[in-house]
Amino acid sequence: MRVLVTGSSGFIGEKVCSVLARAGHEVLRTARKEAPGAVALDLAQPESVPSVLDEASPEAIIHTAAVRDLAACERDPQLAHRVNVLSTEAIARWAGGRDARLIFTSTDQVFDGGQGWYREGDSVHPINEYGRGKVLGEDAVLRHAWRTGTVARVALTLGYTRERNRSPNEFVCGQLRSGKQAPMFVEEYRSPILVDDCAGALVELFEHKSIRIMHLGGPERVNRLDMGRAIASAFGLDAGMCVPATHDAKGSGLTRPPDTSMCPDLARQVLRCPPRGLCEAAAVLAASQA
Ligand SMILES: NC(=O)c1ccc[n+]([C@@H]2O[C@H](COP(=O)([O-])OP(=O)(O)OC[C@H]3O[C@@H](n4cnc5c(N)ncnc54)[C@H](OP(=O)(O)O)[C@@H]3O)[C@@H](O)[C@H]2O)c1
Repeated sequence: MRVLVTGSSGFIGEKVCSVLARAGHEVLRTARKEAPGAVALDLAQPESVPSVLDEASPEAIIHTAAVRDLAACERDPQLAHRVNVLSTEAIARWAGGRDARLIFTSTDQVFDGGQGWYREGDSVHPINEYGRGKVLGEDAVLRHAWRTGTVARVALTLGYTRERNRSPNEFVCGQLRSGKQAPMFVEEYRSPILVDDCAGALVELFEHKSIRIMHLGGPERVNRLDMGRAIASAFGLDAGMCVPATHDAKGSGLTRPPDTSMCPDLARQVLRCPPRGLCEAAAVLAASQA
């Protein structure tokens, strides 16, 4: 299939491109600026989306591009709105009108975190700018691509990023290897997923056209401290150097939902390769460290 991937230079998008290529799909990567071998698409200009997609003419789209950083969304909500909402809406309209399959990466941050272990049918109630944009993006996909679109709500993702210091495993290993403690929030519960499992699931979702929303997280609800300790142990590092911390919302200016763990039942029922558990994910990362 001819598949267009937005955000192909990003953490998840890059992995998605590898999975697609391995499966024999033709991959059209988009890049914010003109780049060799890439389709130029700046999502800060939503009005450019239809003509770029007309030209590229994909049979399917995996839309991972986003302003993903919580602080960046708070700093520049207009830009976040153009990229995360208006461009998603333009992509959804295009895909819906052409009967093209669309997989949209949303987030566990659509929930307020008051309940935890969320199921796909639970009500969303975002408490930060990033989450609010993603809810509007989800609405656009479900409205405009109601026959061909699937919203995949992705949990906190483990793996190796281009920046090399962004993901939770990179943070923990970076701190501990330089002899420092790794402060990890105790009041934040997540269901972490390995980036390889996330990318594999996003591609596998092509086959499940009737699913409107799927939660993509690992099978465990875990707080960041326990997650950090599991990672440290898998890497043979001193787990005791991961120390409890609490989030200072006032100091950071960021509101973070306490428990956005997501129930993995649907993914486990439907996918051939559902996301693996935390210990297995950490072992995979330790075995593949650069
Ligand atoms: N990572 C996580 O833990 C996590 C958890 C839940 C959900 N998600 C969701 O998963 C998706 C991918 O996340 P990620 O961690 O892979 O993000 P990422 O590493 O920050 O990558 C974001 C991608 O979006 C592109 N992008 C940003 N602004 C753009 C613009 N104006 N025009 C075109 N492209 C633009 C970036 O391109 P440049 O390289 O040019 O900047 C990059 O390729 C996002 O939708 C995110 O909300 C991620």
